[in-house]
Amino acid sequence: MDRIWIKGGQPLHGSLTIGGAKNAALPLMAAALLTEETLILRNLPRLADITTMADLLGELGVEGIFRTGTNGHSGSSLIEMRAANVRTVTAPYDLVRKMRASVLVLGPLLARIGMARVSLPGGCAIGNRPVDLHLLGLRALGAEIELKDGYVEARAPNGLKGARIDLPVPSVGATENIMLAASLAKGTTELANAAREPEIVDLGRCLAAMGATVEGTGTDTIRIVGAQALHGTTHDIIPDRIEAGSYALAAAITGGAITLERADIGQLGAAAAAMRSTGLSLEQAGKDIEVSCKTNRPHPINVTTEPFPGFPTDMQAQMMALMTIADGAAMITETIFENRFMHVPELSRMGADITVHGSSAMVRGVSRLRAAPVMATDLRASMSLVLAALAAEGESTINRVYHLDRGYERLVEKLQGCGAKIDRMK
Ligand code: UD1
Repeated sequence: MDRIWIKGGQPLHGSLTIGGAKNAALPLMAAALLTEETLILRNLPRLADITTMADLLGELGVEGIFRTGTNGHSGSSLIEMRAANVRTVTAPYDLVRKMRASVLVLGPLLARIGMARVSLPGGCAIGNRPVDLHLLGLRALGAEIELKDGYVEARAPNGLKGARIDLPVPSVGATENIMLAASLAKGTTELANAAREPEIVDLGRCLAAMGATVEGTGTDTIRIVGAQALHGTTHDIIPDRIEAGSYALAAAITGGAITLERADIGQLGAAAAAMRSTGLSLEQAGKDIEVSCKTNRPHPINVTTEPFPGFPTDMQAQMMALMTIADGAAMITETIFENRFMHVPELSRMGADITVHGSSAMVRGVSRLRAAPVMATDLRASMSLVLAALAAEGESTINRVYHLDRGYERLVEKLQGCGAKIDRMK
């Protein structure tokens, strides 16, 4: 199994390109099921999760072709997808268990075919993560849903009908599944307490380009008037704000200065303000963000994860890595997922001083981390270990890097390009 080797202590300098957002790409790929015409997604990141979604869509009968470098940017890629004939409406356990976002095919299948059978994703490393809100929304649109043998079996023999839906929690995935389904439902859907993440806005843009009427994305109330049929389009995926934030923190933790090419501060929400409070400078310069570290050691800050525009749970582990070397104590509170501190024991192995009390972690900054062999546990936790290793004294190895491959495209090359001493070992 591959490992990553890092020799820490090298301030990062240079520039790296931020790829398309994984979490925008996954629901956009599911949108291909809504039309028999071709949907082209540009600025597609090449990641394991994208391959998993492509495999699932392939299983359902979607013809998909990946192309590289056709977007005018080196290394970028696109996918052309055509769901002229949906071959089966079953998303099997073997594919769904690999990635929770597979459940996003439920809404589109139901809306286009009137039937879907999607395996329940099961638990995952960062908590229980049920799909009850996805089902609540689809039921409100008229679907009949049963849970049988570990599968969600959904039917809408007479098609879906627009409705008013109130989400008890602004779930990102449930908002996306409902938007996808509502785009082919009869009449108007009003979704209250919707998620407001930039990825939702991106999905709304694409669905509108495909022929649905979509209003209010980015606010807590989304209104969608479904179309009788949707058509194909070409869509540019937004930059990955979590990748951008992670690399900004790489500059911070090493005391360096880097340019994040093709990234947008506006999409960082509270994460930008939080990073600035630690002493990092972030400036939008055209299509790039210039990041530079202004302090010797980062200022400690208290962070609570919240739905967008609050501080993202997907950057909690990385911010914790930075706080391990802060000039004082920081409190980090996780409110979105119940089991998202698995990086704590690994960071502690590198000399971090962290005490967890329920959903909060008290991080007392130390002057220097020490290298150690550590184990990646989930995608973002893995990035926090990379960050810690970049700052630590000595040589670290990070095991189980397949977690990183799910969400960070060409991580080793990008960091090497900024002077990091990092390598991938077989
Ligand atoms: C998405 C992101 C993930 C990010 C998360 C929160 C993708 C592919 N993944 O995940 O990277 O960490 O948003 O920003 O975009 N919940 C329920 N019932 C449901 C659905 C969710 O109780 O039916 C709960 C979850 O357990 C969690 C909270 O709602 O506590 C938020 O989850 P949600 O926003 O749905 O996250 P995902 O869409 O799974």
